[in-house]
Amino acid sequence: MVTSNPIRDRHATTPGGMAVFLLLIFIAAVLYAASATTQAQPATPCCSDRWDPAREQRGHWGPGRMGEGQRQRMARHWTFMHEGVPAEYAGQENPFESSADVVSEGGQLYATHCALCHGSEGLGDGLIANSLSPSPALLARLIQMPMAVDAYLLWSISEGGQAFGTDMPAFKDVLSEEDIWKIISYLRAGLPSMSEDSSGLNDQDIAR
Ligand code: HEC
Repeated sequence: MVTSNPIRDRHATTPGGMAVFLLLIFIAAVLYAASATTQAQPATPCCSDRWDPAREQRGHWGPGRMGEGQRQRMARHWTFMHEGVPAEYAGQENPFESSADVVSEGGQLYATHCALCHGSEGLGDGLIANSLSPSPALLARLIQMPMAVDAYLLWSISEGGQAFGTDMPAFKDVLSEEDIWKIISYLRAGLPSMSEDSSGLNDQDIAR
């Protein structure tokens, strides 16, 4: 008859080792519970559509985390990258030299037609921005991207977002092409503040 279990015997003879083993399991369980609690309460809600430069810097962006609005917004960029702009906009360039006059005229037009959604500084935070999905683009950031060539901007502003199901209005029947170019000049100048006396702008301020 077998009377001794070698495994039980080994544990029985090393109670100190067993205690350390149990302690390690306990610590692992506590650590796991702590990390699970942190994950269960994210600081920001998942998959918000809002542009969030801080989130972008934290490197949390990627197709897997994109909300529906973000996908619609990206559709415009992807269409441009794969197909370019429609023929009537291809190769178009701003006929205006950047000057204080052109930039301030563009600024007035921007304040009247664009700021409501895109915000006075192009940060996507205009008065009605929160009611739109996808949210208005961060034009201050877009204008620094290689994609933001003249033809791309003219196309986006003229045709709006109908093809992509967004609230970006088409301006080709609202503004003359010249006015759209002036707005583009204003964007390129970095959306200088128009809130005070806009005649304060001078050619040195906007020279590039
Ligand atoms: C009613 C709100 C609204 C108004 C007014 C508006 N926009 Fe937009 N705009 C949007 C939204 C929403 C988007 C993001 C979705 C998209 O790209 O279609 C957008 C996108 C854009 C884009 C493309 C951005 C990108 O990521 O490529 C440009 C350029 C733009 N707007 C410029 C303008 C200009 C210039 C004006 C004024 C002449 C203007 N918008 C007026 C809502 C608006």
